[in-house]
Amino acid sequence: MLDPSPNRPELPPEIARRRTFAIISHPDAGKTTLTEKFLLYGGAIQMAGQVRAKGEARRTRSDFMAMEKDRGISVSASAMSFDFDRFRFNLVDTPGHSDFSEDTYRTLTAVDAAVMVVDGAKGVESQTRKLFEVCRLRDLPILTFCNKMDRESRDTFDIIDEIQETLAIDVTPASWPIGVGRDFIGCYDILRDRLELMDRADRNKVAESIEINGLDDPKLAENVPGHLLAQLLEEVEMARELLPALDPQAVLEGHMTPIWFGSAINSFGVKELMNGIGAYGPEPQVQSAEPRQISPEESKVSGFVFKVQANMDPKHRDRVAFVRMASGHFRRGMKLTHVRSKKPMAISNPVLFLASDRELAEEAWAGDIIGIPNHGQLRIGDTLTEGEPLRVTGIPSFAPELLQGVRAGDPMKAKHLEKALMQFAEEGAAKVFKPSIGSGFVVGVVGALQFEVLASRIELEYGLPVRFEASQFTSARWVSGDKAAVDKFTAANKQHIAHDHDGDIVYLTRLQWDIDRVERDYPEVTLSATKEMM
Ligand code: G4P
Repeated sequence: MLDPSPNRPELPPEIARRRTFAIISHPDAGKTTLTEKFLLYGGAIQMAGQVRAKGEARRTRSDFMAMEKDRGISVSASAMSFDFDRFRFNLVDTPGHSDFSEDTYRTLTAVDAAVMVVDGAKGVESQTRKLFEVCRLRDLPILTFCNKMDRESRDTFDIIDEIQETLAIDVTPASWPIGVGRDFIGCYDILRDRLELMDRADRNKVAESIEINGLDDPKLAENVPGHLLAQLLEEVEMARELLPALDPQAVLEGHMTPIWFGSAINSFGVKELMNGIGAYGPEPQVQSAEPRQISPEESKVSGFVFKVQANMDPKHRDRVAFVRMASGHFRRGMKLTHVRSKKPMAISNPVLFLASDRELAEEAWAGDIIGIPNHGQLRIGDTLTEGEPLRVTGIPSFAPELLQGVRAGDPMKAKHLEKALMQFAEEGAAKVFKPSIGSGFVVGVVGALQFEVLASRIELEYGLPVRFEASQFTSARWVSGDKAAVDKFTAANKQHIAHDHDGDIVYLTRLQWDIDRVERDYPEVTLSATKEMM
């Protein structure tokens, strides 16, 4: 049994045993398969394959999701909770497609660690690199799983070198693969001196684990064929000489990543990785907030919204706000203060996302993710507390990279369109700007695919066919600064000024030159490409 939190004895045991993390990877590296195996070992599902099956069932409930299926991308994010050993794992799903990177960024504000999955043949791919950079901004601890070792893969040292070089992070091998491709028979567990042998016949079977008394134990030779054994001994010796040894503190600080090798589809290496998340992934961390930070062990409950998802249940037009608990012990029915509006909210129907279904959450501890159904009061970035006016920080909104105008097919439905657009703006699915001159809206997104998703959702959820069309603008910047200076600036640039759904002033333009000019001519006005959600 692993001790849930050797580092933080002050944490209540229920908090110390929580591990809240996300999986980051390039599409196709094996995130879905790994998730399935996590849930399988977490006892949350009976048979691998259910995540996909459930995914399919959920998608047929909404055609928007059908579109997701067609494109083979995962648009919706959710959270899953399950127990493993003495730990409670909260796995927050990140949308895989690069068009949804903003959503992904915010999801990563809700976790304490990330598991990075790389394909043993492909190494570090573009999307992995982008997501890794986001994790680095927050110094998130990262554990690495090198997947598909049952296929022809690259040389182990090559893979490790590539991660070290392209991501500038120390890599320490937690396990070492034995053989490659067809010859792959399993791994030597470097951290615990065990031999893990893969069973190719039964994909759901947990690997046979043999305790080994160091590399000269004769048991090794009994289980590993001669040619593979010689190579293993040589490589592990070299690895121990050339690669840094595991330093748990460096892992917690995000400077070192332990790497496990395995094959998710063959259930191989997954348990070792899970043990690793328990042992080296951190317990719930301190949350930055204003005017003070929040520690998980505080007795008062607090949490923040990092994602809003509409229409999870098409029968009810509700939205679910995903809340990461930042401190305390929450119990169902508690009255919390919604800090932005200063209003109390009774949280009577919070849901927990157990892998098989969503369930009423009778309680939740710091580190947990709960869903709160609501009618739009809860927005991304909102903080809930037991009364103290705290505001969690670090949940940004990015300036969109693509802007388009939008029109309702039926001009009489302009009001409906406005309502739909506001909903998506609040969900964080798009930026919606109302120019101060003229009618209509400008919609901004990070990736072009989002326009299609929006058009299809507006039609489905509001019965409103819409058309996106070229806009005269290509960039948006939030405007701030001294009020008199901002007023003077907006009065002189009316044709460029709009307001976002929160009523904040935005400068729209098509030229970087314009932005440079504003910065030169209006030194007291600041144009920024990000805005803190609040
Ligand atoms: P993703 O969520 O990261 O996009 O990846 P996913 O798990 O869907 O896996 C992508 C493909 O890789 C799938 O094959 C999956 O079966 C396969 N795969 C996952 N882990 C392993 C592994 O350890 N070894 C091997 N050889 N393959 C693996 P697919 O053909 O696209 O889908 P499917 O028909 O198998 O469902």
